Amino acid sequence: MPRARALAVFPGSFDPVTNGHLDIVRRGLAVFGRVRLAILVNSEKQPLFSVEERLEILREAFRGNPRVELDTFSGLLVDYARKVGASVILRGIRALSDFDYEFQMALMNRRLDPRIETVFMMPAESYTYVSSRLVKEVFQLGGRVSDLVPPVVERRLREKYRGKATRAGASRTRSKRRKR
Ligand code: PNS
Repeated sequence: MPRARALAVFPGSFDPVTNGHLDIVRRGLAVFGRVRLAILVNSEKQPLFSVEERLEILREAFRGNPRVELDTFSGLLVDYARKVGASVILRGIRALSDFDYEFQMALMNRRLDPRIETVFMMPAESYTYVSSRLVKEVFQLGGRVSDLVPPVVERRLREKYRGKATRAGASRTRSKRRKR
């Protein structure tokens, strides 16, 4: 039975969201009243999808689920969690290789605010190898990702890479013209 009022923040890059993330949200909702996916606004990273695009994708992926909230944040995660009244940080752990990084983050966050608890959940085994990075790589190289991401992501990937190919093609044509 979910703790009716507890809010768990699920932070991440979600560039793009995968079925592994969706699985963690589903599991989170079985325990917590609400799950809020919070996209980190990080100017140092070069994401494929802008923050606004990622929010649109999440909106479509979770449409019709009133217990799923969507937001962006910058700065310290614990400050954000405190601000929105979340007592839990939710993260997924796929394999042992995730553990070091997640453990470090969880302990640092606990040091920063001991009242906020990090809860790790494991996705279904079928998603243990799925990551946003691999999805982008496989898709870009022509591989099939339809079982790994929600339909909206596959569509957005197609649009994104078609746009990139067209822009790259156009700039190649322009530079050829310049050379002549
Ligand atoms: O999906 P990601 O990229 O693994 O998510 C990483 C994220 C957003 C959870 C992490 O980078 C984060 O919490 N950043 C906020 C900055 C912060 O609070 N840093 C100190 C805690 S270790």
